Amino acid sequence: MKGKRHTILFIHGFPMDSAMWRGQLFALSRWTRILPDLWGAGTATILPTAPEYSIADHAADLIRGLDDDDDGEVVVCGLSMGGYIVFELLRSFPGRIRAAILCNTKAAADSAEAKLARDDMAARVEREGMEALAAELVPKMLARTTLEHRPAVVRKLTAMIKRQPMHGVVRALRALRERPDSTPLLGTIRVPVLVIAGDDDQITPAAGMREMARAIPGAEFMLIADAGHVSPLEQPKAVNAVIDGFVARL
Ligand code: MLT
Repeated sequence: MKGKRHTILFIHGFPMDSAMWRGQLFALSRWTRILPDLWGAGTATILPTAPEYSIADHAADLIRGLDDDDDGEVVVCGLSMGGYIVFELLRSFPGRIRAAILCNTKAAADSAEAKLARDDMAARVEREGMEALAAELVPKMLARTTLEHRPAVVRKLTAMIKRQPMHGVVRALRALRERPDSTPLLGTIRVPVLVIAGDDDQITPAAGMREMARAIPGAEFMLIADAGHVSPLEQPKAVNAVIDGFVARL
């Protein structure tokens, strides 16, 4: 419907929380925005003894949350781990998805080597804590130019990682490790899709994201300059313009 006030559900990445979307919250206020913290992240604290949960459990929980507010279709926008959840939403709840925005993410599952690296990271987090994890991840997550010239963004991301509860991070690593391969889904997607990549993303490089966009019928691909793995936080103006234009055309 033309002129509709679409709802955008923003799903954060790992090991972050919904604050990574703060630059979208205000700038995209002509749309209804929903920004949950996933279990074990930000304010959605869980007990250290909470049961295991999967990417599919996150997707089902988000749909349950929507049912209270909005029984129509939503635009889902996920970054990295949030993108894995978007794939699950498209697979399991296609009737609820009006369109999808995939930021800095990939469809493939973890390789055997990547699964071992998840186990190592979980053990390191338990041994050394969140400060050490932030020190390890921030240089990989941000573009070189962000690291050199945007100290406020570096501080924001570092503080966000440090405040995540350790047991939530460990559980998230197990869920990431066990996520399914979404490559077979790509060619079956029938809703409008926007793929957003950072030109200096070391974790999900732009070339792979361009390939992923080619595999999705009709998908748009946008490359954000001077952005790493957290493009909405690093280049909010450019990312907001792209998201706003995409949603306005729906
Ligand atoms: C993320 O930003 O959510 C992570 O890079 C996801 C992952 O580790 O696979």
